[in-house]
Amino acid sequence: MSEAIQVHPDYNYKVVRQFAVMTVVWGIIGMSLGVFIAAQLYWPALNFDTPWLTFSRLRPLHTNAVIFAFGGCALMATSFYVVQRTSQVRLFSDKLASFTFWGWQAVILSAVITLPMGLTSTKEYAELEWPIDILLALVWTAYMINFFGTMIIRKVSHIYVANWFFGAFILTVLVLHIGNSMAIPVSLFKSYSIYAGAVDAIMQWWYGHNAVGFFLTAGFLGMMYYFVPKQAGRPVYSYRLSVVHFWALISLYIWAGPHHLHYTALPDWTQSVGMVMSIILFVPSWGGMINGIMTLSGAWHKLRTDPVLRFLVVSLSFYGMSTFEGPMMAIKTVNALSHYTDWTIGHVHSGALGWVAMVSIGSIYHLIPVLFNKPKMHSIYLINVHFWLATIGVVLYIVAMWMSGVLQGLMWRAVNSDGTLTYSFVEALEASKPFYFVRFVGGLFVVVGMFIMAYNCYMTIRSKSEDEPARSDAEVQPA
Ligand code: HEM
Ligand code: HEM
Repeated sequence: MSEAIQVHPDYNYKVVRQFAVMTVVWGIIGMSLGVFIAAQLYWPALNFDTPWLTFSRLRPLHTNAVIFAFGGCALMATSFYVVQRTSQVRLFSDKLASFTFWGWQAVILSAVITLPMGLTSTKEYAELEWPIDILLALVWTAYMINFFGTMIIRKVSHIYVANWFFGAFILTVLVLHIGNSMAIPVSLFKSYSIYAGAVDAIMQWWYGHNAVGFFLTAGFLGMMYYFVPKQAGRPVYSYRLSVVHFWALISLYIWAGPHHLHYTALPDWTQSVGMVMSIILFVPSWGGMINGIMTLSGAWHKLRTDPVLRFLVVSLSFYGMSTFEGPMMAIKTVNALSHYTDWTIGHVHSGALGWVAMVSIGSIYHLIPVLFNKPKMHSIYLINVHFWLATIGVVLYIVAMWMSGVLQGLMWRAVNSDGTLTYSFVEALEASKPFYFVRFVGGLFVVVGMFIMAYNCYMTIRSKSEDEPARSDAEVQPA
C-alpha cells in the first residue's frame, strides 16, 4: 500500500495495517488449532501417535496463538491507532513500531516451533522458554516506549479514557511477564523458575489472573471505549463512570489471583482475600459493561442494519456474562464443584471467544476500510453471516461446557451410603463425550466465520479506491 493514498498521511497507519491483517491470520490459525484439539478430545486417535501432534503440546500452542498472537495483534493494532487519533499526533517512533511488529511475529513463530517440540517452562500462559521470554520483554518494552512516548508528545491536553486502559494493560503486562518468568537457565532450551512450591503457585496465578485482567480485559476495554462510540456514532454514555470504572478495575484485579488456588497449600486467608476481591470485582466489571451498552442510547435502531455494531454489543453481553460467572466461581463452595471441570473451560470461552474475539472482530471490521482508504467493507451481508456463525458457535461451545462441567462435578462427588464413589472417572468422561462433539461443532462455526472474514477483508483491500471518497473514521457504517 503506497503512502500516497493514505487518508491521514500524518499518522503511522502502516504498523496498524500490519497488525490488523495479522489479527485475522492468527485468528484463523489459533482457532483452527482450537477446533483440532476439540476434535482430539472426541476422537483421541487424531494425535496419530505423533508426539508433536499430541493434545498436551497443541493445547498450549492454541492458548498462545489465540491470546498472544490473535489477541496481541488486535490490541497492538487498535492501541497504536487509538493513541495516534486521540492524541492527534504521529507515533513517537516508526522504527520502534516496526521493531514491535516484526519482533512480535518472531516471538509467535518461536512459540509455533518450540511448543510442539515439547520445549516448555510448564507455566500456564507463560510456557515459552527463557531466550524467547527475553525477546518478548524487549519487544514489549519497545511497544511501551512508543505508546507512552506518543502520549507524551500529544497535541491535545486531555488523555482519552481508552488510552488509560491501554496504558495500564501495557505497563502491567511487562511487570507480570518479568516477575513470573524469572528463571535460572541450565541450557539453551531449559530453565528452572526461581520460585518454588506455594510461592511459585502464587506467582504463577498472580501472573495468570492478571493476564486475564489486564491482557484479556483492560486492553479490550480500551478497544471498547473507542470503537463502540465510533461505530454507534454516539459519545460514551458516562465519561465519569468510565474513569471510576478504570480505577476500580485496576485496583481490584491485582488481588483476585488466589481464586485459582482454592483448597491448595496456599494459606487459607489468601484464598479468602482472593474470593472477596473477586466478588467485589463484579461491580466495576458491570459498571463498564453498562457504560458500553448504554452508549447505544439513541442509536439502538442501528443494530438492525449494522452487523459491526452487533459484534461489539454482543461482545459486551458476553463480557457481562463472564464477569458475573467468574465472581460466582470464585466462591469457595462453588469452586469446589467447578474446579477441574469443563465449567472452567466454558467460563474461559465465554470471556475469550464471546468477549475478546468478538470485540476484536468488530473493531477490525471498523478499521479495515479506514486503514485501506475504502468507503466500506466489501460485503456487509458477509459480516452479517459471520456475526451469526460466531454467535451461534460461541453459544453452542459454552452451553455444552456448562452442562458437561456441572455433570462432571456432580458425578465426581457422588458417594454411596458406604462412602465409596458412585461413579468411576471413566464413567464421568463417557458422560461428557456428547458435549465434546457439540463443542467441536460450535468451534467449526466460529472458524468458518473467520475464513469468511478473511475473504471479506481481502476483497475490501483489493478493491479499487482511487476514485472513491475516503471514509472518515467518524462515519458509521453502514447506513
Ligand atoms: C474456534 C474457537 C475455539 C475452540 C474450538 C477452542 C477450543 C479449545 C479447547 C478444546 C481447549 C482445551 C480444553 C480442555 O483442556 O479441556 C481450549 C482451551 C483454551 N482456550 Fe480455546 N478455543 C477456541 C477459541 C479460543 C479463543 C479465541 C481464546 C482466547 C482469546 C481461547 C482461549 C483458551 C484458553 C485460555 C484455554 C485454556 C483454558 C484453561 O486452561 O482453563 N480459545 N480451547
Ligand atoms: C470479574 C471477573 C472475573 C472473575 C472474578 C473470574 C474468576 C474466575 C475463576 C474463579 C476461575 C476458576 C479458577 C479455577 O477454578 O481454576 C476463572 C478461570 C478463568 N477465567 Fe475468569 N473470571 C473473571 C472474568 C474473566 C474474563 C473476562 C475472562 C476472559 C476474557 C476470564 C478468563 C479466565 C481464564 C482463561 C480462566 C482459566 C484459568 C486456568 O485455569 O487456566 N475470566 N476465572
